[in-house]
Amino acid sequence: MSRHRFGSPALETRTDEGAVVELFDIVGGAPTEVVETLCSIHVGAFPEHLFAVDLIREDARLPNVRDGIIVHQWLLTVDGEPVGYSLADSNLVRRIAPLHFFSVLPASRTHTVDGVRLGTWLMTDLRRQYLTDAGEPGLGAAAETPEYKLRIFEPNGWLRCPVRYLEPIHGWNWRTEGLEVREIALLWLPPTTGSAGATNELASAALEPAAASFLIDMYHLDASVPWLANLCGTEIDRPAPSRETVAGDSGR
Ligand SMILES: CC(C)(COP(=O)(O)OP(=O)(O)OC[C@H]1O[C@@H](n2cnc3c(N)ncnc32)[C@H](O)[C@@H]1OP(=O)(O)O)[C@@H](O)C(=O)NCCC(=O)NCCS
Repeated sequence: MSRHRFGSPALETRTDEGAVVELFDIVGGAPTEVVETLCSIHVGAFPEHLFAVDLIREDARLPNVRDGIIVHQWLLTVDGEPVGYSLADSNLVRRIAPLHFFSVLPASRTHTVDGVRLGTWLMTDLRRQYLTDAGEPGLGAAAETPEYKLRIFEPNGWLRCPVRYLEPIHGWNWRTEGLEVREIALLWLPPTTGSAGATNELASAALEPAAASFLIDMYHLDASVPWLANLCGTEIDRPAPSRETVAGDSGR
C-alpha cells in the first residue's frame, strides 16, 4: 500500500529522531480498510470496550462536523506505519474536548516529539485541536478513567475533579443493557498552563461541562437519572449538542 493509503494527514511533524509523524482523521467516508486498521488498534488496547467498535465505524462514515460537536478519530502513524490512535471530540456547546480513548503501540511509546513521549503528545494535542475547531481555547479537555490508570494522566498535567463521578458501565448501550454504574475519576486538562488562581477558577467552570460532555452528550443520560443533576448542574438546561446529527441536516 502507498504511504497515502490513509488519505491526507491533518497534521505532520517529526519525532526528535527525525521520523515522520502524521495524524489522519478517519471520518467522512474513510475506506473500510483504513477504518478497520483504527478498529484493530482500539480492540488491541481496549478488549473490554468492544462496544465502541460500532461507533468508530459509524463515526468514520459520517462527516466530522455534527450539531455542536466536531468528532475526531485520529490515526497516528510513524514513518507511514499505524502506531496509535485517539478518539476525542471538540464539544462546541460545552466548550470542552472530551477524550474517549487513546493508545500507542508498546514498541512506539519511546518516540518523542518536542521532548515528550508520543502518548503524552497525543493526549495534550487535543488542546490545539479544540483551538483550531472553535477558534478559542475553551475550558480545556476532559477524560474519564478508572483509578488504576490515573498515573497515565496525572504526570501529564491532567487534574482529578473533586467530585464523586459515576459512569454507566455499558456506555451508550445502557438503555438495552441496563443502567449499572461504577465510580471512576473525572479528569480535566486546563486549556493552557496559567497561574494557580486562574486555573482554580477555570477548574470550577469546567467541571459541569466536563461531566455533561460525557453523561448527556455521549451516553444520552437525562435529568431523570437521580445523580446526574449533581454532576451536570446547569448544563442540564443547555440545549445539548448531537453527535448523531450532521451539521445542516435535520437528522439521519
Ligand atoms: C496511554 C499510553 C499511550 C501512554 O504511553 P506512555 O506515555 O509511553 O506511558 P506508559 O505506557 O509508560 O504508561 C504510563 C504509566 O501508566 C501505566 N499504564 C499504561 N497503560 C496502562 C493500563 N492499560 N493499565 C494500567 N496502567 C497502565 C504504565 O504502567 C505506566 O506506569 P508507571 O509510570 O508506574 O511505569 C500507553 O500506556 C497506552 O497505550 N496504554 C494502553 C491504552 C490506555 O490505557 N489508554 C489510556 C486511557 S484512554
